[in-house]
Amino acid sequence: MIDLRSDTVTKPSKEMLQKVLEAEVGDDEYKEDPTVNSLEEYCSELMGFEDGLFVSSGLMGNQISLLIHTNPGEEVITTKDSHIKNYEHGAAAFLSRTQFRDIKSTDGVYDNESLMETIQESKINKPLIKVLATENTHLASGGSVIPYEHIKALSEISNSNGLKLHVDGARIWHAILTEPNSVKYGNYCDSLTFCFSKGLGAPIGSMLLGNKKFISEAREFRKKLGGGMRQVGIIASAARFAIDNRNNLIKDHELASLVNNSIDKENRSFHTVTYKDTNMIFFRFDTPSNAEIFRKKLEDKNIISGYIKKDVIRLVFHQDVESHQVNNIIEAIDYSSSLDI
Ligand SMILES: Cc1ncc(COP(=O)(O)O)c(C=O)c1O
Repeated sequence: MIDLRSDTVTKPSKEMLQKVLEAEVGDDEYKEDPTVNSLEEYCSELMGFEDGLFVSSGLMGNQISLLIHTNPGEEVITTKDSHIKNYEHGAAAFLSRTQFRDIKSTDGVYDNESLMETIQESKINKPLIKVLATENTHLASGGSVIPYEHIKALSEISNSNGLKLHVDGARIWHAILTEPNSVKYGNYCDSLTFCFSKGLGAPIGSMLLGNKKFISEAREFRKKLGGGMRQVGIIASAARFAIDNRNNLIKDHELASLVNNSIDKENRSFHTVTYKDTNMIFFRFDTPSNAEIFRKKLEDKNIISGYIKKDVIRLVFHQDVESHQVNNIIEAIDYSSSLDI
C-alpha cells in the first residue's frame, strides 16, 4: 500500500535511527541535553530568532504562543479555516481562553484592507485583538505558500498596531523551498512553530522560536502542560537529521507536480483538482458519495488517500513515497476517476 493520507505517516529511516543510537543525551530539564541544546541553537540561528524550545507537537507550540501573547477574552486574528482555530480540539478556549476573529482571506493570504479595518474597530467597544496569526503553508487551501512579502506586510501591520505576529509554520520548509531567501522569519515575527514530524520525516517533535524572554516563558508553560522531557536528545537527534536533510522535500514537490500534471482534468468524477506547488493534491467532488467511490477505487489500487472534508480528498507526498511508485499513483487516479463501480 502507498499511504498518501498525510505527511505524518512517515517512518524513521535507518540513517535517522543510526543518529538516534549515537545521540549524546542529558537531562533536558536541567538544560543538559547537548543534542537538544544544539538543535534549539541551530534552528533559532537558521531562522533568525534569539532562542528556541523543542516541544512535543505543533499544537503545543501554537498554544504556548497564545498563552504567552494573550490574556483571557482577548482575540487572535486568523483565517476562518486555520489549523490553530479549527483543528486543535478547542485548545485555545481551554488553555488561554482567547477567541478567534476571522478576516477575509484567499488561500491563507489576508485581505490587508479588511485586516486594518478590523484592527481599528477592535479599539472601540470590541474585544482587544492581541495576535495576528498566519499559517504557512496553508493547509485548508491545499498547502498554499504564504508569500514572504505578505509576511513582511503582516509584520508592519502588527508592529504598528501593538500586536504579536505568530506563524504556524508546521510545513514552513515547503514554503521556504519555493522562496529560498525567505528563511529569516525572526526578522518579522514574534513567534513561530514548525514541525519535524510532517514532511521533514521525524517521528516526534516541533520547534518553537522567539526572543529570549518568550522562550523562557514558553519553557515554563511547556512544564505546566506536562511537556518537560529528560533525555530527549534521543528524539531531538531524529529531528536534527530531518532538518539537516530538508532538501529531501524537493523530491516530494516534484512527485506531486508530476502526478498533478498527469491528471486528466476534464470529464472526470471530481469537480476540481487543486495543486498549490507544494506536496499535496486536493480533489473536490460534487457529493460526498462520489468522494467515497473515488477513495475506495484508489484503495483497490493500493493507494490510501485521506479526507479533508466529506467531499474533499487529498493525496499528500512525503519521504516514504518513492519515485518509482509515481506510475502506480497516476494509473490509480486514472482508474478511480470514472464513477463506474
Ligand atoms: C497547519 C498545522 N498546524 C499545526 C498542526 C499541529 O501539529 P501536531 O499534529 O504536531 O500537533 C498541524 C498538524 O497537522 C498542521 O497541519
